[in-house]
Amino acid sequence: MSDLSAAFEATYGAAPAGVWAAPGRVNLIGEHTDYNGGFVLPMAIPYAARAAVRPRTDGVLRFFSEQGDGEVTSVAVDSLAPGSVPGWAQYPAGVVWALREAGHDVGGADVYLSSDVPGGAGLSSSAALECVIAIAYRDLHGLGLDATELALLAQRAENAFVGVPCGMMDQMASTSCEEGAALFLDTRDMSSRQVPLELVGQGLRLLVIDTRVKHDLGDGAYAELRAGCERAAALLGLAALRELSLDGLPGALDQLPAELRPLVHHVVTENRRVERAVEHLTAGELAELGPILTAGHASLRDDYRVSCPETDLAVSAAVEAGALGARMTGGGFGGSVLALVRAEALEQVAAAVTTAFTAAGYAEPRTFAATPAAGAHRIS
Ligand code: GLA
Repeated sequence: MSDLSAAFEATYGAAPAGVWAAPGRVNLIGEHTDYNGGFVLPMAIPYAARAAVRPRTDGVLRFFSEQGDGEVTSVAVDSLAPGSVPGWAQYPAGVVWALREAGHDVGGADVYLSSDVPGGAGLSSSAALECVIAIAYRDLHGLGLDATELALLAQRAENAFVGVPCGMMDQMASTSCEEGAALFLDTRDMSSRQVPLELVGQGLRLLVIDTRVKHDLGDGAYAELRAGCERAAALLGLAALRELSLDGLPGALDQLPAELRPLVHHVVTENRRVERAVEHLTAGELAELGPILTAGHASLRDDYRVSCPETDLAVSAAVEAGALGARMTGGGFGGSVLALVRAEALEQVAAAVTTAFTAAGYAEPRTFAATPAAGAHRIS
């Protein structure tokens, strides 16, 4: 990646006021629970969106992305409205819109972006773009917003400006994760706690397998699943599916139409899997996470139905090659798989997945070992 300050200056003719970074994430466990008031356990990955920013006083917002089309996108902040900005720039522009909607007195800026978070891989490249602008604006305008408030503004940008009805997990991971830890977040009251993840000390690694099947939350399937969960909660007289316990599950399922039962079964059992994962991590029993991951994948595949042949194959090939457990991570319909492996088996598991993909005629997956990285911060 280029020196962002120099690249900014070459593009805009002056030095930036600062440079910020916001990471992508993998979610260890707790999928499709964040819009049900449930638990999630994501960690930041060492890939991030970086932004060099300099405020402008004329109300013009300009974006340039190293991964974009080589053009500077220019828009007047007064004219920002949902649907008004096309392509990747809608994510950062949406955050400026959301800040202004929330009553913050912020204007335009020149922004130079560069991200190495793989796009469409279920690793929250869009949340990283949102959160890097949110934190830069906070610092430049002295907004005094904490990491949770920033994440909720970024989520609002994605919900109301971009039009994707996502939960807040990705944005919370990007603003709030800490190096060496996973973020245990209760999305009902937004309380959270850092759970240390001593992978290396225990001879373990997290292998991320990007299946290269492009995942896109905007295609309607995600919205339908979310609506199904909300309908089930309403039928059960609950504020959210989070209120349903494992003990109450059989009785609740009896009251629901057949098509909603698997969704509810997934959400309730997934919340329990997050709690169990946190118990094991807290006790230093990291390897115990393995079977929880694999059970989570089965639930996403069979109950929630958001996996696809490529993610299923990556999971089964990884487990057969010795992974302690594996599952798809993120919204689904493609994207990435996470496998917990012993350090000495890392290469062998990655190679086995690649071989299985070749045999199935799939594109070669991209693999990397992820360590829990820091959340959004100022670089200079
Ligand atoms: C996407 C959304 C998140 C969350 C996950 C599924 O990543 O952006 O809010 O709902 O899917 O767990």
